[in-house]
Amino acid sequence: MGVLDKFRLDGRTALVTGGSRGLGRAMARALAEAGADLILVGRDEAALDGAAREMAMLGRWVGVIVADVSQPDVAAAVCDQALALNRPLDVLVNNVGGRRVDVATEDFPVEEWKRLFDLNLTSALVCAQRIGRFMLQRGRGSVINVTSVAGPVAIKGIGGRHYEAAKAALGGLTRALAADWAPRGVRVNAIAPGGFLTEPNQKWYAEKPELRATFEAHVPMGRLGEPAELGPAAVFLASDASSYVTGATLVVDGGYTAW
Ligand SMILES: NC(=O)c1ccc[n+]([C@@H]2O[C@H](COP(=O)([O-])OP(=O)(O)OC[C@H]3O[C@@H](n4cnc5c(N)ncnc54)[C@H](OP(=O)(O)O)[C@@H]3O)[C@@H](O)[C@H]2O)c1
Repeated sequence: MGVLDKFRLDGRTALVTGGSRGLGRAMARALAEAGADLILVGRDEAALDGAAREMAMLGRWVGVIVADVSQPDVAAAVCDQALALNRPLDVLVNNVGGRRVDVATEDFPVEEWKRLFDLNLTSALVCAQRIGRFMLQRGRGSVINVTSVAGPVAIKGIGGRHYEAAKAALGGLTRALAADWAPRGVRVNAIAPGGFLTEPNQKWYAEKPELRATFEAHVPMGRLGEPAELGPAAVFLASDASSYVTGATLVVDGGYTAW
């Protein structure tokens, strides 16, 4: 098999949470271009249908599940629904997450903190448990957790430190699961994006224009990333091209964490 063939995902199915917009959609598209069929999860049906139509144009089978995975019992039901489709689920991309609020830690309501941990961390845990069990039975699979550069470093100029805390925890979960599941054929890795101009960041930058300048000044490449620039990283970790890679975090940040 030639080296480029190792990146192919023909005959495999990838479940992408938050696959309807932003980075999840860009990664889903890249996986589809590499040959994968898809199950996309999101809350807004119209956005999901739009993404599904785009991926189906590539000749792939695409299923959608409308659900809010920030609720652990709903996340579990989503996975059961996905498994009931009887697809060869080889890839799970735990992409759902976000900062959502800019509140100083000293004022952060604990209930809100827990809700946002469910969004950023528990959703990934539950999906990894449910889909991971299926992968372990088959003795193969690749789980990709979308963390953030906000895991290893605090982002300057914005509050909401549940985000830094939850993404760091997701990085820890990635390493531990990778170690536990490696002998049973399931790889677990993370992608840590830097700054990309998706809708949440457009909203933050509209509210706080200085935030974008502060962030970009800290990127050695001097610019934000394009969502499509995350796709190849997802294909690498999903495919046999990364057959000896587990417990790793692939940082895609234009050098942000190098400074
Ligand atoms: N953008 C960045 O610069 C950046 C940097 C580092 C890390 N990240 C991480 O990358 C991931 C994606 O971020 P993004 O910027 O692409 O966000 P985005 O543009 O808001 O897209 C989020 C996707 O997730 C879905 N979603 C959100 N909440 C959901 C929920 N509770 N249940 C089911 N689906 C849900 C959204 O669809 P619906 O709204 O219709 O549900 C959408 O498809 C997040 O984990 C984020 O923390 C992003």
